[in-house]
Amino acid sequence: MQDTVIEARDLVKTFRKTFHAVDGVSLALERGKFYAVMGHSGSGKTTLLQILGLLDDASSGSILVNGADASHLKEKEKAQIRRDTIGFVFQAYYLNPKLKAYENVMLPMYINPQIGKEAKERAKELLAGLGLEDRTNHYPKQMSGGEQQRVAIARALANDPDCIFADEPTGNLDEENERLVFDTLKGLAKSGKCVLVVSHNEVVREYADCLLLMEKGKLKEADDREA
Ligand SMILES: Nc1ncnc2c1ncn2[C@@H]1O[C@H](COP(=O)(O)OP(=O)(O)OP(=O)(O)O)[C@@H](O)[C@H]1O
Ligand SMILES: [Mg+2]
Repeated sequence: MQDTVIEARDLVKTFRKTFHAVDGVSLALERGKFYAVMGHSGSGKTTLLQILGLLDDASSGSILVNGADASHLKEKEKAQIRRDTIGFVFQAYYLNPKLKAYENVMLPMYINPQIGKEAKERAKELLAGLGLEDRTNHYPKQMSGGEQQRVAIARALANDPDCIFADEPTGNLDEENERLVFDTLKGLAKSGKCVLVVSHNEVVREYADCLLLMEKGKLKEADDREA
């Protein structure tokens, strides 16, 4: 298996004809690494993450997923690649309030027929792996923000994706829970996943194997940890 999961070549995203929210970004994301993307508000981080995750199209440039060009595929084909390859975690957890923790984790599995009836067991295992074995039957409102975000991470892992993309995953959390979430994501990178985290949180620097800085649509690798 090759190390690179997602490769971006010269991505540009233009809004209102002249504004380049993403302006010529090339990068290769590898398995087993924790990437942190930092940068000012409006610098293009979310736009870039959505393009890398095939949730949005670039205006130009290309995206390769496991070596195959995914830039010009139909939406249905992109959805399939997303389902198999990428798990998303957002600032708001978007858990279904009417479902228990394990049922929320099972949700993405229902669209993957191969997983079938093992789904419930697997959901509980994923939650246990994130330290939530005694929360599987809790509803979201019965859990702390950090616990809910870990349920959202378990859900992102439902289909065993190669990559986890997280946009401000600790935005609503206190410091203790921030650490729990970053520790969890770091553990996933160590287990071989490719983890990409967009964060304003300075703490993320401690976790990053590769620190990327976004500035006015351009991305550069930080020269050192002081950058
Ligand atoms: N759909 C859109 N239409 C027009 N402009 C957009 C659109 N989406 C984003 N933008 C603009 O692109 C720029 C980058 O936005 P983006 O959301 O990627 O920034 P960000 O780095 O994620 O910021 P933040 O840290 O505040 O989340 C901003 O100037 C934003 O206003
Ligand atoms: Mg953003």
